[in-house]
Amino acid sequence: MVTKAKWTPDSWRSKPVKQAPDYPDAKAVAAVEATLTRYPPLVFAGEARRLKAALAEVVAGKAFLLQGGDCAESFAEFHPNNIRDTFRVLLQMAVVLTYGAACPVVKVSRMAGQFAKPRSADTETQNGVTLPAYRGDIINGMEFTAASRQPDPQRMLQAYSQSAATLNLLRAFAQGGYADLHRVHSWTQGFVAQSPAGARYQELADRLTETLDFMAACGLTSETTPQIRETDLFTSHEALLLPYEQSLTRVDSTTGDCYDCSAHMLWIGDRTRQPDGAHIEFARGIKNPIGLKCGPSLPADDLLKLIDILNPEDEPGRLTLVARMGADKVDAKLPPLVRAVKKSGRKVVWCCDPMHGNTIVSKTGYKTRQVESVLREVRGFFAVHEAEGTYAGGVHFEMTGQDVTECIGGATPLSRAVSETDLADRYHTHCDPRLNAGQALELAFMIAEELKKKRAGQAAARARAAS
Ligand code: PEP
Ligand code: CO
Repeated sequence: MVTKAKWTPDSWRSKPVKQAPDYPDAKAVAAVEATLTRYPPLVFAGEARRLKAALAEVVAGKAFLLQGGDCAESFAEFHPNNIRDTFRVLLQMAVVLTYGAACPVVKVSRMAGQFAKPRSADTETQNGVTLPAYRGDIINGMEFTAASRQPDPQRMLQAYSQSAATLNLLRAFAQGGYADLHRVHSWTQGFVAQSPAGARYQELADRLTETLDFMAACGLTSETTPQIRETDLFTSHEALLLPYEQSLTRVDSTTGDCYDCSAHMLWIGDRTRQPDGAHIEFARGIKNPIGLKCGPSLPADDLLKLIDILNPEDEPGRLTLVARMGADKVDAKLPPLVRAVKKSGRKVVWCCDPMHGNTIVSKTGYKTRQVESVLREVRGFFAVHEAEGTYAGGVHFEMTGQDVTECIGGATPLSRAVSETDLADRYHTHCDPRLNAGQALELAFMIAEELKKKRAGQAAARARAAS
């Protein structure tokens, strides 16, 4: 039975809450909430609606969702160069898909608010000392000391400020000339240029530049055509820390609906998707586009129940299902879910997170992922949708523009792949291992191939039908 109880921004408080920090001082939390409630919204309801409309195009099979960025943003790594570098890898990936596969791309970043992290254990023990687990910079500090691991509500205010400043820069990059397609070559960073994926990108950028010259000859230039000059980049994060999300929830004056104005899109993690839990309760009432992580333990019945709760009106673009099964499980675990949703006739975006089902621990003790498993899960995801006659609508990944060594592989003839022993060199993540810029580009080229293959198949089918 789908709950029809009245929703309010705080109705989640009467439900069981998973992954909530144990704040020592409830009054201090309430004071921070009161402060945040008075702060300006970070995004507008109208922008969230625009993203929903763009995602409805994905539901219809006419566009592709590219969602990526940090696993966890951190206060320590907050720097304009980091924001710029992640932004330009997203741009490069989008160009590979838009130009390489002739497919419109909806770009959604895991930035400007992606701070809170769900953990598999509440505590961590080192050398016989047990402390609360690190839950992301919006909650506590990573340093293994009692003081740093104590959840501190003031951190919400710092996360808000960092999100506001990050978003401001992202908006400037997207609209202020940096994203002009004429700059397509300049987005490549030195360390990527030498890699095969980088070289392939340069080739594509050459062709794109020729196309732009042709278009300019036809009168379509940056001055006349905003689509060449600027781009749309939306923001998203996991709606995990509900006191923060509630405090940024506002009534939209145009429609009277509530939007969580901390980001354009919010998603519910695999650990907090209980149909009768607090996170689903919160998400059902806000009108933003919602993502739902679907891991291998999600039964099809629960998924259908969650779809009913989160998208009772079957609005296209409202709900994105983010499958994160793992490369070894995607073939067995994804088809029953895809079939059940198809049979129900519900309109969803199907997106693949090839990161979170593929985390392993290296022999040297690093949490890592094999690029090979990441690519294999994406291929498996496309194959399942091909077999079921549904649309593989997007990918969701963790990446950074920095030249990190966090994921293993990206084997290439020109540049040496990251090996297990390299992990120690530049391992900077505050949570999960991220693809570096070269590895992310490799992923984009692979997806472009899949999309092209699909398009070729459709064209052949049309030709057969016509003859
Ligand atoms: C994440 O996206 O960083 C995450 C924790 O994912 P999941 O909920 O799928 O494990
Ligand atoms: Co992660």
